[in-house]
Amino acid sequence: MSDQTTDAPSTDAPSTDAPPTGAPSTAALAPVDGFLGEVFDPPAPIADTPPWAERPAIDPTAMDTLFRHARTPAAWRDTPVEDTKLTQLFELLRMGPTSANCSPARFLFLRTTWAKERLRPMLSVGNRAPATTAPVVAIIAHDPHFYHMMWRLFPRDDAKEWFSRNPPFAAETAFRNGTLQGAYLILAARAVGLDAWPMSGFDNDRVDAEFLSDRGWKSNFLVGLGHADASALPAQPPRLSFDEACVLL
Ligand SMILES: Cc1cc2nc3c(=O)[nH]c(=O)nc-3n(C[C@H](O)[C@H](O)[C@H](O)COP(=O)(O)O)c2cc1C
Repeated sequence: MSDQTTDAPSTDAPSTDAPPTGAPSTAALAPVDGFLGEVFDPPAPIADTPPWAERPAIDPTAMDTLFRHARTPAAWRDTPVEDTKLTQLFELLRMGPTSANCSPARFLFLRTTWAKERLRPMLSVGNRAPATTAPVVAIIAHDPHFYHMMWRLFPRDDAKEWFSRNPPFAAETAFRNGTLQGAYLILAARAVGLDAWPMSGFDNDRVDAEFLSDRGWKSNFLVGLGHADASALPAQPPRLSFDEACVLL
């Protein structure tokens, strides 16, 4: 359950977030003063942490697990996914960076047949089997009012207002960072030994109405989580080369 209204010191309801008279224009997507370009007090040194100065590349086997050997499944094995695995997954993905540490993503893990069957009619035909036979389907969503948690995530007096007074900037920030956190979930899944099957072929509005309306969250995409049936994998589609996709200036 969202604690956005119970945890925060200020309990402004979302509906009161319209900018007051004289507030900066909401049409501009530029961040309000103070979001960027200010010198922050440097964080206190952290004692007893891993040696930050030395970050060797991860083992090539780990690179294979995360990237080179990882595939989007084409079918699932029956192996279940324990809830503890989902906790592990979240503990990793939540450490991925977001702008101003805003952490807007929210996750619904559908593990029961009952929950997955509620999802079935909202899925594109081709995604019905992959999603409903997955041991777990994650709805990657974001909280449009994520800024109610800024007091804890990025403790500056004005951090909430950067977003609450500029709805287009808040919406863009929620979507951008929520999408990033969905990508972190895919990599975290691979890191804990799961396969991930992202899916965008579904009706977002219906999913929002069925699963998210009580919390006010918005769906972005789905990720099936489980163990791939390796025998069902098709040939991997090619990727662009460095020269095609990258520019060095
Ligand atoms: C955001 C996103 C949405 C996707 N949507 C679907 C989908 O709706 N249905 C599906 O079968 N695969 C979907 N995919 C899977 C991609 O087609 C697949 O990851 C891509 O072809 C690469 O395959 P590989 O990981 O095996 O190399 C999606 C992937 C992403 C990242």
